[in-house]
Amino acid sequence: MSFLVPTLYLLSAVLFILGLKGLTRVKSARRGNALASLAMLIAVLATLVEMGVVNYTFILIGLAVGGLVGAVAAVKVEMTSMPEMVALFNGSGGGASALVASSVLWGSVIEPGSGQTAVAVLAHAPGVTTVLSMLIGALTLSGSVVAYAKLAGKMSGNPILLPGRHVLNGLLLAGSLGLGVWAMFSVSDPATLSMVAVLVLVLSLILGVMLVIPIGGADMPVVISLLNSYSGLAASATGFVLQNNVLIISGALVGASGLILTQIMCVAMNRTLANVLFGGFGMEADAGATSGAAAEYGVVRSFSAEEAALVLENAESVMFVPGYGLAVAQAQHAVRELANQMEKRGTKVAYAIHPVAGRMPGHMNVLLAEADVPYEQLLEMDNANPEFRNTDVAIIVGANDVVNPAAEKAPGSPIYGMPVLEVWNAATVIMIKRSLSPGFAGIKNELFEYENTMMLFEDAKKAVQGIVTEMKEL
Ligand code: TAP
Repeated sequence: MSFLVPTLYLLSAVLFILGLKGLTRVKSARRGNALASLAMLIAVLATLVEMGVVNYTFILIGLAVGGLVGAVAAVKVEMTSMPEMVALFNGSGGGASALVASSVLWGSVIEPGSGQTAVAVLAHAPGVTTVLSMLIGALTLSGSVVAYAKLAGKMSGNPILLPGRHVLNGLLLAGSLGLGVWAMFSVSDPATLSMVAVLVLVLSLILGVMLVIPIGGADMPVVISLLNSYSGLAASATGFVLQNNVLIISGALVGASGLILTQIMCVAMNRTLANVLFGGFGMEADAGATSGAAAEYGVVRSFSAEEAALVLENAESVMFVPGYGLAVAQAQHAVRELANQMEKRGTKVAYAIHPVAGRMPGHMNVLLAEADVPYEQLLEMDNANPEFRNTDVAIIVGANDVVNPAAEKAPGSPIYGMPVLEVWNAATVIMIKRSLSPGFAGIKNELFEYENTMMLFEDAKKAVQGIVTEMKEL
């Protein structure tokens, strides 16, 4: 029997890794998700077996309440609000780790006057990891709540830059870590230990808030990915506290994958992590940067759905370029319908996906998968860019920054150097958006003025539906 639990933990760890592997490709993502869920179920069951006879009342209540909240949230949440939900989930993970570590600490009853420290009582719970779990878990909780509030518009998305904040953050970090470790190893009085533990939690919660308030609301997806990584590290530290191998492994997997995702997003935006964390985006007054106000545009050619349909009628190949506006308008089904129309006429259809199109990683892939777009038609940026030269029509649906030529052609632009989709190389560009308003970066897009660009000013869903109607009549 002694081999059962370790074997189940090993199986669960392998399934977690296979699950992550599955998530790296659109086609296998569902299977990856299912494998990771199975891994979690096995891990939970194995942990219950390991714990032996316990009181299941609280476990069942927790399962029921958590399961209900999660299920309702998953059903009700809009795709565009997914980053907020992920922020809250990360925060819950961090909070859970901090609570577990704290409960282990408080559960380690030191006999008053025994002269023993917490580390001595918690013979097999390494003191430093207990403090780390409390620290990282608590800062993940408060940081995620601030990130949620900024994204949901519950507080201003503007960076709040307190003077001397770096020094203050350094002091908060050193204070909570130093105090916690000192208390674990040196304090033998239970009352003092409790007081210090509360202080560590409070300082860490303040640190979490301090780390996120200076970051602009628009950078929150990157921060959420980073907080996701922190929640994994907190869970891993808690795994050491509980001496639970599968928690150590799964926490480390979350920590590492969150960090990799953060890095991918930074590269796709041509920013360093330090720039996201310490410098508000678009705040530096750049010589070549323009604000993107409508008045800055020269000749912009506006077209109707009927004219767009006429152009598409003769196209042999089209490339859809989805962006944030597609998500806002929920235009994915309409886009699929238009693609069907085109394919019926023998037109080659593909979709170019920029890594940070939309507001969260994989945003466009999820939406297009919802509309049953065949995976093989989705092209990643590196594969899509050479294709534009051979494309008759690039149809941009609610995207802006990810197709802005300034990234390649205007050295003074804040997005200069950001890899973008080179849609302008297509013979004709149909750009669907409601106005001349800028995108997330808040800058002008000269593509609107290009001779081969047709602007179609309308809500993405209505515009695409309009084109479909027109095409059916041709
Ligand atoms: P954006 O540059 O944000 O542009 C979206 C455009 O959609 C806007 O210009 C807006 O113009 C239009 N739009 C909004 N609602 C619409 C509707 N109902 N119908 C039609 N159009 C609508 O989007 P993008 O090109 O997808 O670029 C994403 C940006 O987000 C990048 O700058 C990226 O760095 C940033 N970002 C992304 C992520 C991730 S992970 N995806 C993370 C952090 C930051 P109108 O108002 O004129 O309609």
